[in-house]
Amino acid sequence: MARHIAIFDTTLRDGEQSPGASLNVEEKLEIARQLERLGVDVIEAGFPISSPGDFQAVQAISRIIKHCTVCGLTRAVEKDIRSAAEALKDAVKPRIHTGLGVSDSHLQHKLRMTRDEALERGVSAVAIARRYVDDVEYFLEDSGRADKDYLCQVIEAVINAGATVINIPDTTGYTTPAEYGALIKFVVDTVPNISKAIISVHCHDDLGLAAANSLAGVMNGAGQIECTINGIGERAGNTSLEEVVMAMKVRKDFYDCETGIVTQELYRTSRMVSTSTGILVQPNKAIVGANAFAHSSGIHQDGVLKERTTYEIIDPRDVGIHESKIVLSARSGRHALAHRIEELGYTVSDDQIDRLYTRFLELADRKKQVYDEDLEVLVADETSTTYQAYELLHVQVSCGDKMIPTATVAVRDPEGMQHTDSCHGTGPVDAVYRAINRIVDVPNELIEFSIQSVTEGIDALADVTIRIRQGNDIYTGRGANTDIVVASGKAYIHALNKLIDRAAPSRLEKSLQHP
Ligand code: KIV
Ligand code: ZN
Repeated sequence: MARHIAIFDTTLRDGEQSPGASLNVEEKLEIARQLERLGVDVIEAGFPISSPGDFQAVQAISRIIKHCTVCGLTRAVEKDIRSAAEALKDAVKPRIHTGLGVSDSHLQHKLRMTRDEALERGVSAVAIARRYVDDVEYFLEDSGRADKDYLCQVIEAVINAGATVINIPDTTGYTTPAEYGALIKFVVDTVPNISKAIISVHCHDDLGLAAANSLAGVMNGAGQIECTINGIGERAGNTSLEEVVMAMKVRKDFYDCETGIVTQELYRTSRMVSTSTGILVQPNKAIVGANAFAHSSGIHQDGVLKERTTYEIIDPRDVGIHESKIVLSARSGRHALAHRIEELGYTVSDDQIDRLYTRFLELADRKKQVYDEDLEVLVADETSTTYQAYELLHVQVSCGDKMIPTATVAVRDPEGMQHTDSCHGTGPVDAVYRAINRIVDVPNELIEFSIQSVTEGIDALADVTIRIRQGNDIYTGRGANTDIVVASGKAYIHALNKLIDRAAPSRLEKSLQHP
């Protein structure tokens, strides 16, 4: 019988550590609900001690998720473990994920501990965590570069202390599939009590090998894969959930494994994570990229038209990709809109539906046909505004090849006061940003600007994603409108609000700094 491989999703923890990807509590809840629908076994909801926002998110997710295990990360420190236990208190299936570095590099330079001290600290952390929950996962950070005998010694000790899952991360993405597979085999063959725990693989993609390494781990005895939607995460990211899941599904003959993932939900989940984090999916990304099922060469097109399987190993419908359908028009009522939004997997309040309906009617008036993709962008826009401080009320520009681009903007401040100002710039967007800067006086640097059309057609909704930097911190903003200049202004206000609100905990706070 095929082996069940547990899918441990860390989009909301390791994934959220991508620069500028921070999410508010409402966005995290939306993603957690979708992960449950997707069928993941474990949701790593955050790192509770790292910030009040993370604590609240883990707590809120623990309260609404019924079928998945909800997990909180900690350092091997009592106060972290207590904080995670508190945040997870209402979870049906809580898990504490604690641990410490094992490589000599981490022990000497980061932790400044001897091997014995680190082993003792790990054992005590597991014992403390077991006082609160029955399910304790222990991570051995930088296992990929650690001494194998010491690694096995720690694993044996933490299992004896009560660890139920052993996470062997290739933290730096250094190993190759053959090496990583051999490492998992070595652990299976060497640690005497290993059958009492599940081995988990956690790989980073610095060499583009994370999915291959994770699958090599599975082939050698791992029973859980840690991964993120779209592979987002620290630096080059984590193992991409959709890639390993589809590899095991399409090549079941080879891996002889199965997961509980409802693969038809993959594409929707990918879009939700991309719109909320502002991290775009590269067009050639396996499984969920815009070109993953596009055939451009004449020979391929001819083959696929005759028989899809000539060049396609996955039916796009198996990952939830369908042709865009016109779902609603200006004649659709509020109820029809609410129903479709619910079908798309979003949970929105009555107030939000009221606001969304107004925006939907404006959009339907301009564009006539409203697609699912348009609705997804409107909902993402709406849920991202919970910590709104400033609001863009009006944008007007004059520009052209013989004119000086000039913008006038009206902005409402957090106290409700309306301000209007104008400025010129090198182009209409620059002029809008300068005019906004005259009102919202917050120093920052625009480091990325991208614009995408949500659907096909000249009347399509424009989806603008920007990143701004202040010091070491990066904030992402998104804005959607049929007018690209208005969408750009909204994206800028969104990023500024995140910066001002500092709801986004800094990367420094979120990194695993052991005391
Ligand atoms: O990459 C890593 O080692 C981690 C651990 C904290 C699990 O993310
Ligand atoms: Zn990691």
